[in-house]
Amino acid sequence: MSVSIKSAREIELMRAAGKILAKVHDNLKKELREGMSTLDIDRLGEEIIRSYGCIPSFKNYNGYPASVCVSVNDEVVHGIPTKKRHLKEGDIVSLDIGVIYKGYHSDAARTHGIGEVSKEAELLMERTRQSFFEGIKYAKEGNHLHQISNAISAYAESFGYGVVRDLVGHGIGTNLHEDPQIPNFAQKSRGVRLKAGMTLAIEPMINAGRFDVEWQEDDWTVVTQDHSLSAHYENTILVTSGEPEILSLSAAM
Ligand code: MF3
Ligand code: CO
Repeated sequence: MSVSIKSAREIELMRAAGKILAKVHDNLKKELREGMSTLDIDRLGEEIIRSYGCIPSFKNYNGYPASVCVSVNDEVVHGIPTKKRHLKEGDIVSLDIGVIYKGYHSDAARTHGIGEVSKEAELLMERTRQSFFEGIKYAKEGNHLHQISNAISAYAESFGYGVVRDLVGHGIGTNLHEDPQIPNFAQKSRGVRLKAGMTLAIEPMINAGRFDVEWQEDDWTVVTQDHSLSAHYENTILVTSGEPEILSLSAAM
């Protein structure tokens, strides 16, 4: 496994990509409303991405047909937008978006509630987001990757949640997926040693119930096996010798 270290120039481009992606998420969040279809979300998302001069990195990636992965309620990730699925009050919807700016990728996900959502859903979204922040406390030069994974899972599991095991975070740069893989669940081996200049997409996927997931017939949409709710939160970060820099973070989220 070789994990690339980005040069100062590359880091500048990844910062720019991340900043744009944060704005895409903010703009798209404002457009979310009850009654819209998941395809409406994808269309709007793609328009916003292109308005910033970026390319949607998921579109046609391994055959994925859309720019925004839209996953509702028990859908964990990689939901395929469709005009048949309409958002309703109380739904939680995860939006996972990747952009390419001047050849550099940024990848981030947010989960939003539609109108008034249950207390259970609210807590799941908030704690999934927090699990990311618990994890990146350890994203520092000299630490090992498993410290991030272990912190995410310890936090999420303290609420009895299931931490998805079949999908992981990843390095990111000129490719959407680079080494290393970044599990969100506890690891026995300590994994790679972190170095300044590594750029990572850390993305806890947390289920209100058990951790087991399955793939739907479309070969993309991942759902919880017990049909419990699932939330996703992701940012692209830069490892430094001090605090990590969250490249895709916006003021709003
Ligand atoms: N954040 C997801 C990932 O890192 C999104 C990829 S969706 C795909 O795998 F369509 F591009 F595959
Ligand atoms: Co990702």
